[in-house]
Amino acid sequence: MTNVAVIGSQWGDEGKGKVVDWLSERAQVVVRFQGGHNAGHTLVIDGVTYKLSLLPSGIVRPGKLSIIGNGVVIDPFALLDEIANVSKLGVEISPKNLRIAENAPLILPVHRRVDQVAEAIRGKGKIGTTGRGIGPAYEDKIARRAIRVCDLEDEDLLRDKLENLLVYHNALLKAADAAPMTVEEILKPLMEVAPKILPFVEPVWRLLDTARREGKRILFEGAQGAMLDVDHGTYPYVTSSNTLAGTATIGSGMGMGGIGYVLGITKAYTTRVGSGPFPTELMDDIGAKIGKIGHEFGTVTGRPRRCGWFDAVMVRQAVKICGINGIALTKVDILDGFDTIKICVGYKHGGKTYDYLPASMKIQAELEPVYEEMPGWQGITHGKKSWADLPAQAIKYIRRIEELIECQVALLSTSPKREDTILVRDPFID
Ligand code: IMP
Repeated sequence: MTNVAVIGSQWGDEGKGKVVDWLSERAQVVVRFQGGHNAGHTLVIDGVTYKLSLLPSGIVRPGKLSIIGNGVVIDPFALLDEIANVSKLGVEISPKNLRIAENAPLILPVHRRVDQVAEAIRGKGKIGTTGRGIGPAYEDKIARRAIRVCDLEDEDLLRDKLENLLVYHNALLKAADAAPMTVEEILKPLMEVAPKILPFVEPVWRLLDTARREGKRILFEGAQGAMLDVDHGTYPYVTSSNTLAGTATIGSGMGMGGIGYVLGITKAYTTRVGSGPFPTELMDDIGAKIGKIGHEFGTVTGRPRRCGWFDAVMVRQAVKICGINGIALTKVDILDGFDTIKICVGYKHGGKTYDYLPASMKIQAELEPVYEEMPGWQGITHGKKSWADLPAQAIKYIRRIEELIECQVALLSTSPKREDTILVRDPFID
């Protein structure tokens, strides 16, 4: 038996919500370890749709402990709104089933304002952030001026820290002709929400250590995807956290060796929201068709997602840098009925061929995909529950993906419904 980390292997939106929900039924503890409410995980259970952003997916299942780790940036107002919304659907949320790391940094209203101003300053080079203050909050953490969850206990300390933090942010806001913020306008609402947040607060590393020693199954729920990682992704068009599997330990306080299996969630084609390079992007009818059939709209912002063919070079890189042991291949059914399907097997640039994604943003923007073309399949994969029921050509497509990314399929998802999942290998008992 082993603990599992679930990671997106592309640019996010690979369908982690469904797979995490499927796995959370088998886990006792579910942990978020990076990102914030830029993430959007949709779960459909017994006909009820739950939209989660900050809350770990385990929250909708009775008897599970959900943990928000120190690697997450927490907007306390957004968190309380989400708790209220999910509670309205009949889910009980209390300190019995939700714990929050005392050392997690907060997203404050000033971060949201700075996020929007920073995007405006970037002009044509804008990242297309979710506008939720994620980047500025992580900047404050690294710059050692963040307000952390534990600071909510002490109003005087909060005031001092806010004064220090606003010297920095107000300088930028004024320079950009945006309204600066006052300490009181942040402090007052923070003090109002503090008593609602503090009962959930805990040194969660200790809780995880106990859970591990008791032999409980722990599921680490990643947000975004490997190519949005601030070090390894398509920098600077990335999010501001490390999204790779290694972050599960640092972002929660679980020691090394606490995670035995990394499951990479992988969509059978590629999508991206926001700006940045996308070698296999389809700007034609095929891209539009994939977007339409696949309902490719951002869960958080509602923006249409850019769509393209499967990029095996990029996913292979994600497999290596995350240490992915097996993939959950999702949305293969969206490709049902296509005449031909392409897979990117390399990139060309200036007479050179690459079998990896080079780091230079200039080269990334100019890469031309090298494609392998395969016939599509006429039967359907949609809703299939067994490998034997898949069209032969669909199996060939999946096998070719496995070969190219040097990793095997552990789970195959054939529709948004949880029962439409083909299990090849159980990550918890691999
Ligand atoms: P930020 O995380 O709001 O700073 O946005 C940075 C980039 O990451 C933008 O391109 C966003 O569209 C993208 N991004 C952030 N969160 C997600 C997610 O959960 N899924 C997909 N893309 C995301």
